[in-house]
Amino acid sequence: MSNPTPTAAVPAPSAEEHGDRQEPPARQPEATPVPLEVDLAHADGPDDDGDADSAYVSDDESRRTGSITSSIYTYEYENGRRYHAYRAGQYVLPNDDAEQERLDLQHHIWRLMLRGALFTAPLTILPAGENPGPDGDFRILDLGCGTGIWAIDMADEYPGATVSGIDLSPIQPDWVPENCQFHVDDYEDEWTYRDSEKFDYIHGRALGGTVGDWPRFYGQIRRHLKPSGWVEMQEYDAWLFSDDDSFDRAPHSQEWVKKLDSASRTFGKQLNVAAFHKQWMIDAGFEDVHEVIHRIPIGPWTQDPLLKELGRFEQVHMQMSVASHTPALLTRVHSYTPDQVQTLMEGVKREFRSKDLHLITAYRFIIGRAPSAPAAAAPAPAPAAAAPAAV
Ligand SMILES: C[S@@+](CC[C@H](N)C(=O)[O-])C[C@H]1O[C@@H](n2cnc3c(N)ncnc32)[C@H](O)[C@@H]1O
Repeated sequence: MSNPTPTAAVPAPSAEEHGDRQEPPARQPEATPVPLEVDLAHADGPDDDGDADSAYVSDDESRRTGSITSSIYTYEYENGRRYHAYRAGQYVLPNDDAEQERLDLQHHIWRLMLRGALFTAPLTILPAGENPGPDGDFRILDLGCGTGIWAIDMADEYPGATVSGIDLSPIQPDWVPENCQFHVDDYEDEWTYRDSEKFDYIHGRALGGTVGDWPRFYGQIRRHLKPSGWVEMQEYDAWLFSDDDSFDRAPHSQEWVKKLDSASRTFGKQLNVAAFHKQWMIDAGFEDVHEVIHRIPIGPWTQDPLLKELGRFEQVHMQMSVASHTPALLTRVHSYTPDQVQTLMEGVKREFRSKDLHLITAYRFIIGRAPSAPAAAAPAPAPAAAAPAAV
């Protein structure tokens, strides 16, 4: 769906695009987005051939040495990609080297957007031993930590914090700062942290497509935050936009986002949920809920130098993203053949490299503060029918 008028905010896909299922209302950003200004000089010359296909997308398997016998390392393989083994089948993106390279490249994009910052919540993290609480640490939980790159950077830059990362996949490095630890765990389970282990800050990034019942998820976050602790969700819209008619002229990209969205809904964990976090936080009882949206060009076609740099990275990242997001969902749910998947992926990547198209992605930073009253007052999670999988 294109976003042709400057007055139209980055919208959630319409009900029409999703068939006849009821759609939560689109959330409007606080500020009207300003159209990205095109650098006319960029249009000269051939399309960006971006070496993403060769330089960044490698299907090499990660080979761990040592005598690891746990079944969490007995990975699943499909369509030439490697998937997690613990709770196999719950999450549809791979965890192989190519995916880890994508996540680490996207980490750079997230940070570049924030001019180097790792979070947007107004946190006060004091030196080690000086934070309120029994051990003087500022306790952070990173949900779905992936390669652990965000948690490691946080621990490095804030020695007064202790950072726990959890993920279904044990793909984090062994050598990490001493104030950082990782666990293989499923955050859709009932959380078992004790009352004395409540967190000051709970962070999740790029978790679209990983949760079947978001109100329950936010209920757990709220119960495990200290009074006045912050939650932050950093999420991209699993959709594409344009200020001109580019999206309308990108048939492969249109097919891609629409099919991924419908497949993820059928699977039960919708990918395109970024626009709903703000309301989910409000519904869970968080206060001072705030959302900031960054619109990032795919390709270096804008005038603005920072956006030009971001666009260059995003063009590579989005091509890697196609290879990660597409095979499992489209073969398992929409019965695409491997050849059909390949044809679609090549078409989308070609459109991402086209100098004739000005496609845009949207990244959201949503924060909310737990009430200062004890979390025992938190409302019961909303019924599952309100979860995104059911919309
Ligand atoms: C798109 S990745 C994002 C990784 C990381 N947050 C980042 O921004 O680089 C989503 C991560 O969530 C993890 N995940 C999915 N479902 C999960 C679950 N139920 N419990 C724990 N981790 C989960 C996946 O294994 C994957 O590493």
